[in-house]
Amino acid sequence: MSTKLCFLLLIFYISGIRCARILCVFQMPAVSHQATFQPIAKALSLRGHEVISVTPRPINDPTLTNLTEINTNKTYDIILGHGFEFFMSKENTVQYKIQKIFAMYYEIAEAIFENKEFKAIYQNPQEKFDLIIAQIYISPTMFALSNKFDAPVIGISSMGGWIGTHYAIGNPNPPSLYSEMFLHYNGDLTFYERIKSTLYFIWSRFYLHFVAIPKCDSIARKYLGDDLPYMADIERNVSALFLNINPVLYTPRPMVPTVVPLSFIHVNKPKPLPQDVKNEIESSENGVVYFSLGSNVKSMNIPERVRRILMDAFKELPYKVLWKFEKEFLPGKPDNVVIRKWLPQQDILAHPKVKVFVTQCGLQSTEEAIDREIPLVGIPFIADQELNVKKLKPHGVIRVIDYLNTTKEELIEAIIDVAENPIYKENMKKLKKLLKDEPMTGLEKAVWWAEYVIRHKGTRHLRSPTVDIPWYQYFLLDVLVVILLTILLTVVLLIRLLNCIKNKLTKKAKIKTK
Ligand SMILES: *[C@@H]1O[C@H](CO)[C@@H](O)[C@H](O)[C@H]1NC(C)=O
Ligand SMILES: *[C@@H]1O[C@H](CO)[C@@H](O)[C@H](O)[C@H]1NC(C)=O
Ligand SMILES: *[C@@H]1O[C@H](CO)[C@@H](O)[C@H](O)[C@H]1NC(C)=O
Ligand SMILES: *[C@@H]1O[C@H](CO)[C@@H](O)[C@H](O)[C@H]1NC(C)=O
Repeated sequence: MSTKLCFLLLIFYISGIRCARILCVFQMPAVSHQATFQPIAKALSLRGHEVISVTPRPINDPTLTNLTEINTNKTYDIILGHGFEFFMSKENTVQYKIQKIFAMYYEIAEAIFENKEFKAIYQNPQEKFDLIIAQIYISPTMFALSNKFDAPVIGISSMGGWIGTHYAIGNPNPPSLYSEMFLHYNGDLTFYERIKSTLYFIWSRFYLHFVAIPKCDSIARKYLGDDLPYMADIERNVSALFLNINPVLYTPRPMVPTVVPLSFIHVNKPKPLPQDVKNEIESSENGVVYFSLGSNVKSMNIPERVRRILMDAFKELPYKVLWKFEKEFLPGKPDNVVIRKWLPQQDILAHPKVKVFVTQCGLQSTEEAIDREIPLVGIPFIADQELNVKKLKPHGVIRVIDYLNTTKEELIEAIIDVAENPIYKENMKKLKKLLKDEPMTGLEKAVWWAEYVIRHKGTRHLRSPTVDIPWYQYFLLDVLVVILLTILLTVVLLIRLLNCIKNKLTKKAKIKTK
């Protein structure tokens, strides 16, 4: 028996909980999202819990006998149909993105509820669960399973929380400091940014209250029954929130104790490379540049002008370029560029000949680069990527390219700079040390908290009071009004009094002069 398994069994013994039944619903058909969820479902099943996982990307590992997977990969068509990678592009306003994500999400949620195998579970009155783990990308619809099965729910995200999630669990969210993962203002906001951030904060509250939450509520009712509490109340009842964040990179902020920051969940020990990829890397004379835009942005969909610039720049590099390109054929491919439809990114980044990772800076790719100590050239395209780039920059591990106005010369200069200047790699090593200096790994934390929630049947005892007071109390608007009124009243009274005294004095003076 491996020592790791022994250790797990030991904790299992100490924690003294029986085998639980856990329902996981991981909705978003995005490879990078699922990559952080899979290890958690797997780890819980290896602890002896009976895990049912509803996912568009099943692990399909027959040795995981306690893990049952329900495949919802039909939802990939929905995300493609809505053009996720286009509407999330950085030219669009955050309000537009949020509305589009919700619209896409409603369809995904309905498709999942329509899944026959899943229906057989949630319509079966005999089904019992001890814990629900549901993805919260931005919509809380699946949290309603908690009420259906009378089991506590943990929300999980493969990135940070969006403004609505922070609000629901009771985290202070002043728009003066923390904008939002899709708005990418952070830390020291300028006056203009604070205006935009404040307007967005107000807009999001109205949008959630009047549009999004009522719609999520109606979808949950349609499938789970009309006796549910209101969706906003269900969301506030969440027992814990697993966010893929690390305070070193995710601006430090006050959070309630049930927010569990996890990181490096999906990063594994390096595995041997496929022989052909290995040969390509090892036959390079001056090292390798690895280029991938991740799983949500397809290289073939990047603007023609940008693709031209990239190819022209790659052509003049002294390195070999390994490019994850989703088609067989790349017209005009330079000789030093090698394309593959799919590449084992984590393992490639572990190869000592890889010098630079040219990336869109999605969170999962960023974590892999940090773990393998490979410095970055970042070209953010969508979603939270712009924000990730901003957080990495002060650590001196990245050169940032704006794809809207970049030139061949700038790209070449940036890539060679990162490849040849040792400071970037040294800084990456420092950053890795900082991020990994934690008492438990992300996966251990996730398992511990899941079992904590099961043991105590939720975390009512840790619920923040901010969740239960109305917003005008939270912002002390009622107190402010009373104070202002008091001051106003005092001033008015004083003026009256002064006037009165003045009048009396002038009257007296008049009487005297008569
Ligand atoms: C499945 O769970 C049981 C306990 O419920 C445990 O004894 C067994 O080792 C688990 N199997 C795997 C492959 O995790
Ligand atoms: C969805 O899953 C089925 C069954 O595993 C598989 O045959 C099919 O190719 C998958 N489709 C996509 C789009 O991944
Ligand atoms: C919140 O959870 C508790 C159990 O932990 C449950 O009794 C209650 O009905 C839930 N309330 C809402 C609004 O979901
Ligand atoms: C592109 O625009 C950004 C501002 O949006 C600017 O900081 C940067 O220097 C520009 N880059 C080039 C190559 O013009």
